[in-house]
Amino acid sequence: FSSFLTDRFKRQHNYLRISITERCNLRCLYCMPSEGIELSPASHLLSTNEIIEVARLFVSEGVTKIRLTGGEPTVRKDVVELVRRLGELRSLGLKEIAITSNGVSLLRKLPAMVEAGLTAVNLSLDTLIPAKFELITRRRGLEKVLQSMDEALRLGVRVKVNTVVMRGVNEEELGDFVEMTKDKEVEVRFIEYMPFDGNKWASKKMFPFQQMLNTITRQHPDFYLLPQLPNDTAKTYAIPGYAGTVGFITSMTENFCGTCNRLRITSDGNIKACLFGNEEVSLRDVMREYRQADEEVGAGGERRGEMEKRLLEVIGGAVGRKEEGHKPADALAREG
Ligand code: GTP
Ligand code: 5AD
Ligand code: SF4
Repeated sequence: FSSFLTDRFKRQHNYLRISITERCNLRCLYCMPSEGIELSPASHLLSTNEIIEVARLFVSEGVTKIRLTGGEPTVRKDVVELVRRLGELRSLGLKEIAITSNGVSLLRKLPAMVEAGLTAVNLSLDTLIPAKFELITRRRGLEKVLQSMDEALRLGVRVKVNTVVMRGVNEEELGDFVEMTKDKEVEVRFIEYMPFDGNKWASKKMFPFQQMLNTITRQHPDFYLLPQLPNDTAKTYAIPGYAGTVGFITSMTENFCGTCNRLRITSDGNIKACLFGNEEVSLRDVMREYRQADEEVGAGGERRGEMEKRLLEVIGGAVGRKEEGHKPADALAREG
């Protein structure tokens, strides 16, 4: 396995998350203010070609799984093309192409994405009650999300539902989400809410894993733990006879940093070794520096090898500085 993607703790990073936009069509209370966030100028974002360039390099170093995230990845116009071009990297060893989406504007694009090679869809959905959906996301769209879920199942891709559990908001819906797994072959994953910097709204919202487990076990005494998959963020459980499974992502009470195999690329092209880390280093600037130099001397990408070497040094540096783990107290999560 590539030394550039192996850290001091021998963790091999074969899973790359690429954020392709900061924009989103929802305004979830825990993620964005109602007016939205200040957007970077378009020129700061990686272009389609730059994303594929980065992806190709990571795949040639041993990455086997790529997930597109956001913001909301489907608001980016070239999302289908991106999946298609990632699909071409399968010959280099890429096995899984996944997307994490809120599902509101996914439906129409799904068939083309699956045809292009998409293998998995993770849907963010915190409530099954329309009025509450509007309260949490400050937008409408529950029906669309549920349609996207059924369409993804129909198309035969792996479907997970990410449900952030918040005290006083949706804790009483745990049972309804569990029931969803009775007939649908989905994995519902309950996520411990991660309070981030200065978010007062959230400080008391965390609902710990053990409490979720108690609640569900009371209704389903035969709820049982499945064997842990390597590098899985979730602990997965099942109920005999149910089509789907139920997972728990316990970022706050039991971190899973020891088996972390993930690296991230931000939409403006920085590599970020840890979700909770503050360090970001630009890959975009390296790519653009070389492109500009090539244009000046009229060269047609002859220095490509040199650029890739430089990119790998930057990547290797960021991976090499990756910390052993985070303490829940450092939680500064801002995921999409
Ligand atoms: P799978 O590939 O299906 O396992 O998905 P995933 O869990 O890697 O990705 P997804 O985008 O669905 O993220 C779901 C949740 O996992 C997020 O809300 C985070 O809470 C958590 N998560 C994902 N990556 C990391 C990570 O690197 N560190 C921590 N602490 N949590 C993460
Ligand atoms: N805590 C836990 N999960 C979060 N997500 C976004 N913000 C938080 C937070 N503060 C979830 C989204 C999505 C996933 C990628 O991250 O709901 O499903
Ligand atoms: Fe959009 Fe996801 Fe943030 Fe909600 S949590 S506003 S769906 S990026």
